[in-house]
Amino acid sequence: MRARSEYAEPYRIKVVEPIRLPSRARREEVLREAGYNVFNIPSQEVYIDLLTDSGTSAMSDNQWAGLMMGDEAYAGSRNFFHLQETVRELFGFRYVLPTHQGRGAENILTTTLVKPGDRVLGNMHFDTTEGHIRLKGGEPVNLVIREGYETATRHPFKGNIDTERLLGEIRRYGRERIPFINITVTCNSNGGQPVSMANIREVSRIAREHGIRVFFDAARFAENAYFIKEREEGYAHKTIAEISREMFSYADGCTMSAKKDALVNIGGLFATNDEDLYRKAGQWGIVYEGFLTYGGLAGRDLEAMARGLREVIDETYLEDRIGQVAYLGSRLIEEGIPIIEPTGGHGVYVDVKRFLPHLPQSVFPAQAVICELYLEAGVRAVELGAAAFGRTDEKTGEQIFPKLELVRLAIPRRVYTDRHMDVVARALAAVAKRKDRIRGMKLVYEAPVLRHFTARFEPL
Ligand code: F0G
Repeated sequence: MRARSEYAEPYRIKVVEPIRLPSRARREEVLREAGYNVFNIPSQEVYIDLLTDSGTSAMSDNQWAGLMMGDEAYAGSRNFFHLQETVRELFGFRYVLPTHQGRGAENILTTTLVKPGDRVLGNMHFDTTEGHIRLKGGEPVNLVIREGYETATRHPFKGNIDTERLLGEIRRYGRERIPFINITVTCNSNGGQPVSMANIREVSRIAREHGIRVFFDAARFAENAYFIKEREEGYAHKTIAEISREMFSYADGCTMSAKKDALVNIGGLFATNDEDLYRKAGQWGIVYEGFLTYGGLAGRDLEAMARGLREVIDETYLEDRIGQVAYLGSRLIEEGIPIIEPTGGHGVYVDVKRFLPHLPQSVFPAQAVICELYLEAGVRAVELGAAAFGRTDEKTGEQIFPKLELVRLAIPRRVYTDRHMDVVARALAAVAKRKDRIRGMKLVYEAPVLRHFTARFEPL
């Protein structure tokens, strides 16, 4: 990767969307009304929105033009065939089911394959995937390598699966209770960390030996491929298309949230080469998503997805994209703010256990940081810690906390400039200066699944 100062953004701006910073008094009011949960803040009240990189990409002129080419036929839209052709070429999967977004694909895959008592193994399942596995009576099992949980340890592929633990699980539970292994590329929950080709190959070899299927959660496959090219021996001279194709060759299929690396605002897909699985999944797809060739999307959305998938594998784009994430990371390091290193593909993750060592997870320290960041500069980030991944034990009523307590600054694709990143870095630096006065939050309302979306808090 070239230094950020050696080049400029590989695009020019054709349309702009004004944003504004509400006054401090207004930000205080907004936060109170939102129950100190940034999911409840109207986006008009946000200055720089780093809540997610999902569905927030700026589409290209070519994608916008594609919208006009939407064929809105209920069955057999030409845009579906374009998408299918693109997925066949890039992923090597013959059968494609479009879905309304990633979780729609997860739902049809888990409905088809997971039965009560099953264990779905993976590096780290995303929260919606965990939700779907649990709703079908299964247990999501995270087997990421030890370094994946160590925010300060530098390792090039912190999304890798610990193959010893994988083998241990297979020996203990047997293939009958393991419907599939799910490799999330990149691994969102611990920092957008990549998985190496060597690890993918090895996991796939073990899985095949035991007759277990492998799927990718391919939301950020192109970012993963870029890291393989940058960091793994033997891949520097391969194209992103070649690397992606090799990655997918080790899997039986994938689910994908197209809202990330297909550079669209809505959409998802399920793909496989297994005809029988496609037919079974397709039955559920029809019930939950829509007919096989549209899956809850308009024809125009399918077209934008097909075009986005081809754009995202452009290396110059990926260098700029991942370079911007690294740039924000380096600014935070300069300010002495502890982050997951090295930075991953789609955002910078602040390690709140190191940032606020005086606060236990029971007072939701990452949630507190998010509120401070909004108050400071109208910046919206997301909590990936006690609120998102903790839960209340049904039997004992006790809180179960995740290993990591993170604030994620997710960067939308092609949306903000480095000057926006500078504002974010300065805001966090200001929060850092008064961090000893941060007391944490009390949870006053929670839903039974995916509680962080609707939870309400009060400051302590
Ligand atoms: N898998 C991963 C790795 C994800 O990051 C997400 C969504 C999904 C699946 C679900 O996809 O939202 O299209 O239904 N991640 C978003 C985020 C919400 O902010 O990280 P979806």
